[in-house]
Amino acid sequence: MPHKDLLDIAALTREEIEHLLDQSAPFKELFTRSVKKVPALKGKSVLMLFYEPSTRTHSSFEVAAKRLSADVTNFDVAQSSVTKGESVRETVETLQAMRTDFVIVRHRSSGLPGVIAKLTKASVINAGDGTHAHPTQALLDAFTIKENFPNPAGKKVLITGDILHSRVARSTSCILKKLDLDVAYLGPGSLVPKVGPENIRRFTNYDEAMKWGPDIVYLLRVQMERQDVQYFPSLREYHKLYGITEARLEDIRKRGLYIMHPGPVNRGVELCDAVMDYERSLINDQVENGIAARMAVLYWLKPGGH
Ligand code: CP
Repeated sequence: MPHKDLLDIAALTREEIEHLLDQSAPFKELFTRSVKKVPALKGKSVLMLFYEPSTRTHSSFEVAAKRLSADVTNFDVAQSSVTKGESVRETVETLQAMRTDFVIVRHRSSGLPGVIAKLTKASVINAGDGTHAHPTQALLDAFTIKENFPNPAGKKVLITGDILHSRVARSTSCILKKLDLDVAYLGPGSLVPKVGPENIRRFTNYDEAMKWGPDIVYLLRVQMERQDVQYFPSLREYHKLYGITEARLEDIRKRGLYIMHPGPVNRGVELCDAVMDYERSLINDQVENGIAARMAVLYWLKPGGH
């Protein structure tokens, strides 16, 4: 049964997740054709409401909507009446009067897309809210893993870095657990919350985490902009203890592990330059798959009231 909104991976059943992953494959296949567009959402309108910066999510939603033949409007927060004190509620009510079908929201406040979803009949898609959730990132990550491991149950994914502030860690570990993968967290004790999902191992030492035997090392950016206090001595120290240095990359290559990262990357912090050229880096695949996964979501959701 299609949903009106996509706010969080936790709200989806395993069957719904598998349906969306299955639907992403034919959309990706479309990218190899000379005409990359289908008329599935012809006549529908998509509004991009990004209160926080984004490169990948914003551009891939825009491409996804256009490949489905929807009309896309970019709400430019910096040029809008938001700068004159207009509330999110007023903005959404104004936009509701325009009868948009889909609203794609990114905001620094956790839970805000859910508030907007209650105010509008449009389908609301959470494109990342504070430290809470990033459901389409989780879908594209799971799709990328399934491309490399068609039967991924039991595979081990080590999520490394700033878990505490990461909506990606929350959503991606949720989807991977729903698909029966084994997930562990690695990072400084101050950035790996002790509370939270109980069936996820926590490591604070890189070598111990490697002994666990991951199939995929999933790197996260250290989100300096969300850190109100200092969680570790320095970025140089972080790179030394947890970053993928050239020596660690060599070991990862010998073990045949895959590397993933949601972007944007901090070179010299969570990874060295050479990771970007590593033959088992899936970072560019994740970007490409973001379009297919988001097409599947737009195609599946059912806006109400139109
Ligand atoms: N992965 C991700 O959300 O990247 P952007 O911030 O560039 O959208």
